[in-house]
Amino acid sequence: MYKAFFGFKENPFNLSPDPTFLYRSSMHEEALANLIYGVQSRKGFIVLTGEVGTGKTTLLECLRDFLDEQTIEFAFIFNSRITPDQFFEMIAYDLDLRCNRNSKTEVLFALNHLLIQQANEGRTSVLIVDEAHNLEWEVLEEIRLLGNLENRRGKLIQIILAGQPELDRKLDAPNLRQLKQRIVLRTSLQPFREEDTVAYIHSRMERAGMPDQTVFPPELVAEVHLRSKGIPRVINAICDNLLLTTFALEQRVSTTEMLDEVCRDMRLEWSSNRLGRGERGRYTPDAYDQPSFSRGD
Ligand SMILES: Nc1ncnc2c1ncn2[C@@H]1O[C@H](COP(=O)(O)OP(=O)(O)OP(=O)(O)O)[C@@H](O)[C@H]1O
Ligand SMILES: [Mg+2]
Repeated sequence: MYKAFFGFKENPFNLSPDPTFLYRSSMHEEALANLIYGVQSRKGFIVLTGEVGTGKTTLLECLRDFLDEQTIEFAFIFNSRITPDQFFEMIAYDLDLRCNRNSKTEVLFALNHLLIQQANEGRTSVLIVDEAHNLEWEVLEEIRLLGNLENRRGKLIQIILAGQPELDRKLDAPNLRQLKQRIVLRTSLQPFREEDTVAYIHSRMERAGMPDQTVFPPELVAEVHLRSKGIPRVINAICDNLLLTTFALEQRVSTTEMLDEVCRDMRLEWSSNRLGRGERGRYTPDAYDQPSFSRGD
């Protein structure tokens, strides 16, 4: 709505996990490098964890681009609330396995065939599971068994499990000891530090068509960092709403009053210790699980 007003080519704070908007913080860079290294060196199991909205799916999308470029076969399971049967059906669909996709035996047979064929050509294959903290025990057990497939040069399929920190706790369960032992690489995402929030906002504005942005003054960006706790999805939601308010008021620069209004509408809570009044609000990340970020609702 405000694109033309500010001269943007695209919406700078879209909530989708679009790799073309990737801001390469050292943390995201390192996590992506770990994922790529894990795949290339056939490490077997790799786990990526991070709080809600810190960029896990965005990194998986970057990895998907890398795998496409390298023509490495992969299956991407993004809906993890599935039964074992659905799990095999989704793998068969993604890898285009020619078999009865409703028969686990046939899918396993065709998958094994594909993995060995790829391995003979010196290639590997990848299974990516997003939201892995939601996986049922039975599906995790099937995943563990897939991870057993190997030849003398390493694992035939590289398995990436991405999810919220509960995933780590789930993998600590006694019945998943065998799976946990097989995880050779772990990487995690944390909320941004203030300098990353600043660079992140600038990078998204630049990518959308506004280099050297002046809409958000430095003090306001510092306040956005405080109120968002450095969580990229919350930063996006705040900045998008700020741009909308600024546009609605036909202004060129966002103000603290606008930010206050946006945060009220978003029902955002944060610690206000920066103000030096000793008061501490309550920060509730759960509030952003299913955010209702549109204005005026
Ligand atoms: N490094 C980054 N560069 C650009 N955008 C990012 C980055 N990290 C996160 N984002 C943005 O933040 C939002 C949330 O990211 P994403 O959906 O990847 O988080 P997530 O960790 O998968 O969240 P969830 O736990 O809810 O699945 C998206 O709009 C995404 O584009
Ligand atoms: Mg995600």
